Amino acid sequence: MNKATTAVYPGTFDPITNGHIDIIERGARLFNYVVVAIAENPGKHPLFSLQQRRELAVLALAHLPNVRIVAFSGLLVDLVHEVGAQVILRGLRAVSDFEYEFQLASMNRRLDARVETVFLTPAEHYAFISSSLVREIARLSGPVAEFVPSVVATALMAKFSEQGA
Ligand code: COA
Repeated sequence: MNKATTAVYPGTFDPITNGHIDIIERGARLFNYVVVAIAENPGKHPLFSLQQRRELAVLALAHLPNVRIVAFSGLLVDLVHEVGAQVILRGLRAVSDFEYEFQLASMNRRLDARVETVFLTPAEHYAFISSSLVREIARLSGPVAEFVPSVVATALMAKFSEQGA
């Protein structure tokens, strides 16, 4: 059986980090297509606009031909259906991620029983990265080059010098 499988990798990506990219690269090897879905998520009061988060992801993932990036503001299961995907891909960094991820996967299954959630773990040296820690380090003028692609590091520097101006 040769069945094309598309996975949706959702998140806020404020901003995209090397940890996210590690999971996306793993997903792009496993699935025919990966759709990186950037949630508007106004409740998180993102630092970067939806358009900026999308642009940074497009630049950071340009090396992956079977990955595309979309922005969305509705229900995740509706987007999964819209793009013809069968799988939701999520990263599990530590045991502490599990409870929230279990809840999310169970609720998504309740909303649409056809969608399966698949979890991948990042390389261990990315397990401690989160977007909020990266934002905090950049806000305090610390070094973020190890945790994010260079386009993101530049955008963070610009954002905080603009805010400080
Ligand atoms: N490497 C580095 N960081 C990672 C990571 C990885 N592999 N995986 C997750 N993270 C971090 C993120 O950077 C983020 O950090 P922060 O909170 O410190 O900024 C944190 O883990 C979790 O964020 P994220 O993975 O972006 O998920 P989220 O909780 O912000 O978003 C959605 C979850 C978008 C999937 C969810 O809100 C959603 O589906 N929204 C659409 C509406 C909907 O359908 N709601 C019902 C869902 S049942």
